[in-house]
Amino acid sequence: MPRITRSAQKQIEFRCQKTRSQQKKNEGTIAASRSKHTRECSISPRKRRDPTKACQTLVSVSPKKRKNNNGKVTEVVSSDEENSDPKQKLSFAGLESLKTTPRNQARCKSANAGLKVGSEPRKTLSLARQDGQQYSKVRRALHSSHPNNLLCREKEITEIRKFLQNHLLRGKPGSLYISGAPGTGKTACLTKIMFEMKDDIRKCQVIFVNCMALKQPQDIFKKIAVELVGEDQCPAKTSQKFLEEEFSSSAATRILILDEMDQLESKHQEILYTMFEWPSLPKSKLILIGIANALDLTDRILPRLQARPKCKPELLHFAPYTKEQIVLIIKDRLTMVDDGNSILDSSALQFCARKVSAMAGDMRKALDICRRAVEVVESGERKQQILQPVGKAESPSKRIETPSKPKKVGISQIASVVAEVYGSRLVSGPGGEQPTIPMQQKLLICTFLLMTKERSTKEVVLGKFHDTYCKICSKRKVSHLGQEDFLGLCNILETRGLVGMKRAKDTRMIKVTLKIDEKEVDYALQDKTLLSSILQEGIPTLSKN
Ligand SMILES: Nc1ncnc2c1ncn2[C@@H]1O[C@H](COP(=O)(O)OP(=O)(O)OP(=O)(O)O)[C@@H](O)[C@H]1O
Ligand SMILES: [Mg+2]
Repeated sequence: MPRITRSAQKQIEFRCQKTRSQQKKNEGTIAASRSKHTRECSISPRKRRDPTKACQTLVSVSPKKRKNNNGKVTEVVSSDEENSDPKQKLSFAGLESLKTTPRNQARCKSANAGLKVGSEPRKTLSLARQDGQQYSKVRRALHSSHPNNLLCREKEITEIRKFLQNHLLRGKPGSLYISGAPGTGKTACLTKIMFEMKDDIRKCQVIFVNCMALKQPQDIFKKIAVELVGEDQCPAKTSQKFLEEEFSSSAATRILILDEMDQLESKHQEILYTMFEWPSLPKSKLILIGIANALDLTDRILPRLQARPKCKPELLHFAPYTKEQIVLIIKDRLTMVDDGNSILDSSALQFCARKVSAMAGDMRKALDICRRAVEVVESGERKQQILQPVGKAESPSKRIETPSKPKKVGISQIASVVAEVYGSRLVSGPGGEQPTIPMQQKLLICTFLLMTKERSTKEVVLGKFHDTYCKICSKRKVSHLGQEDFLGLCNILETRGLVGMKRAKDTRMIKVTLKIDEKEVDYALQDKTLLSSILQEGIPTLSKN
């Protein structure tokens, strides 16, 4: 089995997450933006284009003064988009200056007065931008650090817990090797279990090493020794021997967790072999847990272990997440935000889950993709400026209370991100440009949709499918393929993951199903006119021609 390593996969880069204090600051800013002062500050249309400038002009504070204002305003006018609801920036800057310098307060008042007294109509236009709060909340809920709630891993968690309890209670040494592709929740599960079992393991010494952080495999001995006895007690040249003596002389139970253990592979696998041998040393009370990606690391790399049953670790494999599990986990995360599920379109989530599960069932990647797609929509929304009339009857504060509905993250955004990460069968580039699906394939898919719609079924048999396709081609005056070529076309679409086929002896009885949902078909075909006209016309009754 090929070894899967995280480094082989393309990573999505995200801007730094907002810290809790930054968030609080922002919340403060929002409150500030409701201030009467800021509401009354109208802006000339030219300046409206740049809210930051508009704010500066209005408040008439020199940059030097703004800088001197406890650094607060400087922060607000920074270009960090993460904290940048521009409306909030504007309001905050104005407010801070008003609060701090009475002269500026007076200036702003007179500016407002001037604007009101002038011949302008009562209703002025003010610049508003979409409130991005909902998006930030959703992005935070879709984090890929270790969560409290680990769905779909109940069985694995029970197994690990059982292993630990078994060995701890009986003071029995032993080893467990946990394998699984990246992002299948191995580290997250173990971290959660260790936290939950903190009372049981209080008397043990727990050593956790992420082997990825080591410069070279041999450094592991020094690292473990330092964790065991401390830097000062650790011999300058820490050898394997020192650790062997430690493990076979100490009465205390020790739990050694080696994450990313495959980093310890060496020419003759001496290091790995040595480690799996430690629990079987005389008087050893070591409980070793190794985590890595390769399913067969212990069989393939350590055949010597097979020969010594005492050293053989127990094995536990974390299977890749299925589409259904990915959907469930992400939906669960979204329930943590009010109305969170309304930000991510359900078909977009299904699309993401299907792509990720088809590749390696990597939950980290699924979360990253969704988060990135939310970010894309969010930044688009933030850029969008809405001019809203401000009259006496309608105060800006009311507008803030009833913000427009945030735009949903749809299949197109998810597809572009997926294309960035994996490349996609539906999307060929990060710019979202579509591959051209050949006309015959489009006709085939449209025929399929028409048949399943008219017959309220999910699958069609190839014979009838071909007949209907021929009728549609004839009606549209397009040449049609013979049954054999038609089957070939179905095979191509199957390879692309668009349709599924259940083989049968008789070709005409092969059952065909669609593997993507209708919204995706729209997206994949990029030919709504063709699709809707075929669907509207229905199955042609004239089969001749
Ligand atoms: N069952 C789950 N429920 C919720 N979130 C999950 C679940 N499984 C994984 N995740 C998310 O995916 C992230 C990655 O999981 P984790 O770090 O445990 O993967 P891993 O299997 O250790 O991967 P690697 O081999 O790359 O180290 C977690 O931090 C968590 O946010
Ligand atoms: Mg891990």
